Amino acid sequence: MAIWLPNLNGRLGPKYLQIVEAMAEDIASQRLAVGTQLLPHRELAYQLGMSANTTSRAYAEAAKRALLRGEVGRGTFVRSPDTLLQADKPYNLHREKTGPVDLSRNLPLPGFAEPHIRRVLGEISRGEGLPALLDYQTDEDLAQHSEAGMIWLDGCGVRMPPDQIVTTMGGQHGLFCTLMALLRPGDLLLTEALTYSPVRAMAERMGLHTATVSMDAEGVVPEAFAELCTSAKPKALYLTPTLQAPTTVTLPEVRRKAIAEIAQRHGVILIEDDVFGPLKADRPPPLATSAPEHTVYVTSLSKSVAPGLRVGFLSAPEWLVPSLRHAVNLSVWMTPPMALEVAARLIRDGTAAGLATRQSSAAERRQSLARSILGHVDFVADPQGFHLWMPLPAGWRADAFRAHCAGHGVLVSEGRSFAARASDAPEAVRICLSHEADEKRLERGLRTVSNLLRLPRSTATLEL
Ligand SMILES: Cc1ncc(COP(=O)(O)O)c(C=O)c1O
Repeated sequence: MAIWLPNLNGRLGPKYLQIVEAMAEDIASQRLAVGTQLLPHRELAYQLGMSANTTSRAYAEAAKRALLRGEVGRGTFVRSPDTLLQADKPYNLHREKTGPVDLSRNLPLPGFAEPHIRRVLGEISRGEGLPALLDYQTDEDLAQHSEAGMIWLDGCGVRMPPDQIVTTMGGQHGLFCTLMALLRPGDLLLTEALTYSPVRAMAERMGLHTATVSMDAEGVVPEAFAELCTSAKPKALYLTPTLQAPTTVTLPEVRRKAIAEIAQRHGVILIEDDVFGPLKADRPPPLATSAPEHTVYVTSLSKSVAPGLRVGFLSAPEWLVPSLRHAVNLSVWMTPPMALEVAARLIRDGTAAGLATRQSSAAERRQSLARSILGHVDFVADPQGFHLWMPLPAGWRADAFRAHCAGHGVLVSEGRSFAARASDAPEAVRICLSHEADEKRLERGLRTVSNLLRLPRSTATLEL
């Protein structure tokens, strides 16, 4: 066992955090290699002349920051950044008031929808329609729910008759149903080079082949898509044309039209993920408007109203609707009518659209806070987006920077989380501004990131 002892010289603050900081820095600089087994905490305490309580706390905090993993009966090991991308990732979506500042999650700001949902729940509980909402439904959605879908989609710029709208339990479910309805094992699904990674995970589970389409500063490159259509015969292209995750780019209208035209020419279906669309009022028209016969448009209320509602809508060409309904049916039997009823009421009376506007105004405020703190760094962001994308200054590696931030109590996502191939992964991080409920914590997190980026590289011990 290699013996690692933290260098605590010159460190201030609680002893257990000093140990964690030293550990994070040594991992970042690769002085402490991934997979290294650490001394048992009692032994470390003995070596450092501290109480076992302090070292135990240090290891617990380091595990919380994903720097360490414990294996029963074997010991404690330095965790690989790779394992962070796997299914065992600690998936804490709670808006913690203590602990690390979490800038790694692209969630809407909490709190806005709550009073409206309380009101609507009251109305539903007093209304006569409740028994029908509590029962099984037929294959079709209730008329009032399809109608609400139509209003929501109309607000997104997609005009569709109710019989071409399918309700889902959110965008993720919509994507899953689309892949189930459209593709068979062995089919080729294209994605943007950097993409929302659950879609790649779904494709893998479903035995699909995947390939990526190059992107530049304006998003997917149409020529690259056309070339793949000819050479690789894909079935579908999954893309996020508005406030793209992670690059924040909104695909310009000319490109949208070009991609729609290529899809039509080659008979490729576009899976247009627009869950962030309603936050950006001035975005160009969806691709679905240019290629309605070749697009499944996926949206949800998660980023605009409340993710816990689990309500989304798909619109699709007529021929695909039965398969989509079948996929919903197979996966969840039916989209919960209660949740749909809450959503439908909020959509019909305009509350949902108002909440989306509040989210984008809040995003604008937080984006200007980020600009004021990170003004000395180059990054890409949309004023109405929840996140920013920061290619790191030369000399930084994204995994090291992420570990360094984690060691200083700030969680960010590294570029590799969004890349299909490690070789495509840019040395960049995504920083999300909306997960933290408390703006003071957000500010603290951003200042920490800013200070880390200001460190001369020699001080930052990041000569990699
Ligand atoms: C790009 C993208 N698509 C889809 C989803 C899933 O949306 P929903 O919460 O509605 O399932 C997310 C959630 O973060 C997302 O970022």
